[in-house]
Order: sequence, then C-alpha cells, then structure tokens
Amino acid sequence: MRITINQIKDMKQKGEKITMLTAYDYPTAKIVDEVGIPLILVGDSLGMVVLGYESTIPVTMEEMLHHTKAVVRGTKRAMVIGDMPFMTYHISTDDALRNASRFIQEGGTQAVKLEGGITVAEKVRRIVECGIPVMGHIGLTPQSIHQLGGFKVQGKTPEAAAKLLKDAQALEEAGAFAVVLETVPSQLAALITQRISIPTIGIGSGRGCDGQVQVISDILGSFTDFVPKHAKQYAKLTDIMSSAIARYFEEVKADTFPTVDQSYSMDESILAKLK
Ligand code: KIV
Repeated sequence: MRITINQIKDMKQKGEKITMLTAYDYPTAKIVDEVGIPLILVGDSLGMVVLGYESTIPVTMEEMLHHTKAVVRGTKRAMVIGDMPFMTYHISTDDALRNASRFIQEGGTQAVKLEGGITVAEKVRRIVECGIPVMGHIGLTPQSIHQLGGFKVQGKTPEAAAKLLKDAQALEEAGAFAVVLETVPSQLAALITQRISIPTIGIGSGRGCDGQVQVISDILGSFTDFVPKHAKQYAKLTDIMSSAIARYFEEVKADTFPTVDQSYSMDESILAKLK
C-alpha cells in the first residue's frame, strides 16, 4: 500500500519530519523507495540535471511522462508526484485538468505538483475536485525564472513576504495537500509553516518547514554544473563514475579487459569441426 496524502498530513500533526526526494529513472527510484522515503517527486528539474537543458522551461509533458513511468515502475510504497511542466496548466483550467490527469492515468502517479499561489488556486481547486491530489510550490518557482530575474531568495521585502503567506493560504484553501517553499528565508518559511494546516516542504528554506525536499543529483553529486547553496553533497558520484570509466578505458587499451571471468566459451569439438 502506498503512502497516502492523509498519512502525510498526519505527519505534520504529529511533528514528524517529512522527506521528499526527486527521482527520474527506475533504478534510482527503486533505491529511494527501498530506503523508505515517503514522497518521490519526478521534478521538472529533470530538464536540467538529466536532459541538459539550461532551465526547466523546455521540458515537455512527453518527457515528463516517459521518466515518470520509469519511476513508478521502480516504486512500491512511496507516493509518486508528477511535476507539471511549464505551460501545461497556465492557459486554461481544462488544460490543467487534462495534463494533471495524464500524470495519474498514463504516468501512474498518485499526485501532481504545480508552481504558483493565488494565480493558480482556482486550477488547483478544480484538479482536487476531480480527485487528483495537488502539491503547491511557491517562493523561487523555476518556471518563472525570467520573470524573477534569476535564482534569487524570495520574500525578503514586507510586501513579498506577505504575498508568499497569502499564496500559501490560497493553496491550502484550494485543497492542496502540501506546499513546497523554495528558497524562502528560514524565518518566513517557519511563519508560513505555523500559519497553514497543510505540510510545508522546504528546499533552501530552513529547518522550520514540516519537511525537506532535495534534487537527488545535488545530494549525490551526480550533476555538478551548478550546485545550489542549499544542497548538501552526501556523495560525489561524478568522481566515482569518472574513475571507473577511466579504468575501463585504460584496461581496454592495455588489452587487460575482458578476462575469462567476463567471457563465454564453447565446446572445443564444435570449434574443431568449424576449423
Ligand atoms: O523540479 C524539481 O525538482 C522541484 C523541486 C526542487 C521541488 O520542483
């Protein structure tokens, strides 16, 4: 049985910290699920850390669904959340509903996430009314990077802070089951967390949130073009991969790979006949 939104909401009530991590493929999702992480986000960060785009903006529904299906196949217990890409929920409520339902029906996720507060609240309400759990995402919303003028901390002025609180309340009121707070000052994130009844999941927003989310490539050190300040590297996979690949390269050139251990043999009598 997979984790439900009620279990996630209960964790806030009980003061249990909620962990969320991104995953983009079957083998990684399997490990994340087996470790016991309750929430797996197939983030549109996929575009940057796996597909090599400069931002999340070019990511398409088809790309998201392709990776989402692999993540769902690799998991048994976690709730898998599909991240709705740029312009798949902006144009109309019908569009938002159609694309959210594709994540559930085709992708096999249990929930979707979309960016924005008050401006998307009506769409969130409609998606939730149709039976699809929605996670909100406010603060630094990467799909609006051109409007925000870069990857900057959000909510630092009195107006911007008040707006973020209102956005969080609008999402709660629209029926979202949780909200991501990205790159918000810790004090403001803690205040929002106290003021709303649904869990806040922080990234770069301090320990006052109900939970934390990280991009898996940041914590594993498997994507190092850009490492955000809020990411802690628990491993440096690029180094491990680079040295393994270099050893393979050397061994093929030196003709020391493969050995009998990596080879297959056939009956000598069959070989003799052939000769
Ligand atoms: O796309 C993503 O990985 C995200 C997280 C950073 C929350 O939206």
